[in-house]
Amino acid sequence: MEHQLVSVVDFGGQYTQLIVRRVREQGCYSEMVPWQSAAEHIRDRKPSAVILSGGPKSTLGADAPDLDFSVLEGIPTLGICYGQQLMALRLGGLVEKSPAREYGRRHLGKTEPGSFVSVLNNDQVWMSHGDKVTAVPPGFQITAHTETCPVAAMENVAAKKYGVQFHPEVTHTIDGRALLKRFLFDIAGLKGDWTPQNFIEDTLKSIREQVGDGKVLCAVSGGVDSSVVAALLAESVGSQTTCVFVDHGLLRKGEAEQVRETFTKTFHPNLIVINAHDQFFGELKGVTDPEAKRKIIGENFVVCFERNKAVLQAHDFLAQGTLYPDVIESGSPTASKIKTHHNVGGLPDWMKLKVIEPLRWLFKDEVREVGRALGLSSEVVDREPFPGPGLGVRILGEVTPERVKIVQDADWIFREELLKTGLNKGIWQSYAALLDVRSVGVMGDERTYEQPIVLRAVTSEDAMTAQAFPFAFDFLEHVSNRIVNEVDGVNRVLYDLTSKPPATIEWE
Ligand code: XMP
Repeated sequence: MEHQLVSVVDFGGQYTQLIVRRVREQGCYSEMVPWQSAAEHIRDRKPSAVILSGGPKSTLGADAPDLDFSVLEGIPTLGICYGQQLMALRLGGLVEKSPAREYGRRHLGKTEPGSFVSVLNNDQVWMSHGDKVTAVPPGFQITAHTETCPVAAMENVAAKKYGVQFHPEVTHTIDGRALLKRFLFDIAGLKGDWTPQNFIEDTLKSIREQVGDGKVLCAVSGGVDSSVVAALLAESVGSQTTCVFVDHGLLRKGEAEQVRETFTKTFHPNLIVINAHDQFFGELKGVTDPEAKRKIIGENFVVCFERNKAVLQAHDFLAQGTLYPDVIESGSPTASKIKTHHNVGGLPDWMKLKVIEPLRWLFKDEVREVGRALGLSSEVVDREPFPGPGLGVRILGEVTPERVKIVQDADWIFREELLKTGLNKGIWQSYAALLDVRSVGVMGDERTYEQPIVLRAVTSEDAMTAQAFPFAFDFLEHVSNRIVNEVDGVNRVLYDLTSKPPATIEWE
């Protein structure tokens, strides 16, 4: 099925990805396109609507990102911030430099009755601009202004061209969603045909076409992305697919078994589990430096693949869980490049496999939706992000099987209590880490000299920043009591209150 497309032209704005997400949230498929290739893209793909993003440059500068507006004729177009200014300038209006930047919350006040922006019940909007439109192009009408911004919104209904100086995609524009809905459905007449189910049907078909009767290899980590990829492969080319899972012994308690079970029972039996506990623990012996540990863990994934070269080489395709943000970050949405997979630490050169990336158009939350629609359990779909080097970065100092067991047991108790109380739902990541110091305690009548466990739980949107979760003291005290009583080798429990920055989410 061919989806209706909303193209978001990127002029370098910090919120462009967010626009794409907001459009998709309304059930309309959207792609981001760099301004340099936008005219060609619009001619070829014939989107049902176009949104022009904001951007850091001035439309008046010599190096201003530009667009040939003739390609937009007849296409409903919404210009946001820089997008509105470029629309004004290219269609015959005026843009002027303003002495001061306008940044932050503003109130639109009265909007033109019946206009596009009159849908805003709450008039708080978010502005972030220097230049401003001072005269609208012929055929346009000013539909909102503020004291400092003479054209906060403009429209030309006959030409289907709309502009706003503020950012409807950010939450500080309280009714921004209503505005986007109005544009997508009332103005552009979109149907909202982008659903996880449609995505699944299309993807299964295209995997079958691409793979033919070839063989597919899928490296899995137990994380949500690789699990969803494996589920899609299982449904489309299941008997031609082999999943490989390297069990390095550094997963959370029960997770290696869970991967085995999910893959063998839910998907199909072609799962190769490489048990590499001895190899990883052997290489990590005596190593305490965090970066050295990371390097060793990454390199040993490759060693595992080398050892199984014969099996792995007997495949034609490599399926990976690359997501849309990775595609955008790599610069070109069309280039198919093997990214350095966090969990396999870079794949060896001899794996000359063609890459399939069924999730390359999805954001993380969409991957979860697709996983749910495919019937994957909440345990898999809602799994927290987990670092590729696993518990290796949650054990400070040397990584030994005994210390892994301590962390796993403490972590298990913490997780169990979070699940029991439902607190896990509001948390981005939570875990127990083991420190490499000892302290004195007393248990029974005995003096102890043991290691401390640190509990970490953070809220976050994207792992770039994070805040410590504000647990009630009783909860922490209860978890602490359980850990010191049930886990041998631990006599103290600490809670990490630090946000990111200045700390990071992981301890190493
Ligand atoms: P930090 O600790 O830098 O982590 O705040 C941010 C996010 O990235 C995860 N993380 C990693 N993921 N390999 C990975 O695949 C790594 O080496 C690694 N280090 C950190 C971390 O769990 C958090 O979600």
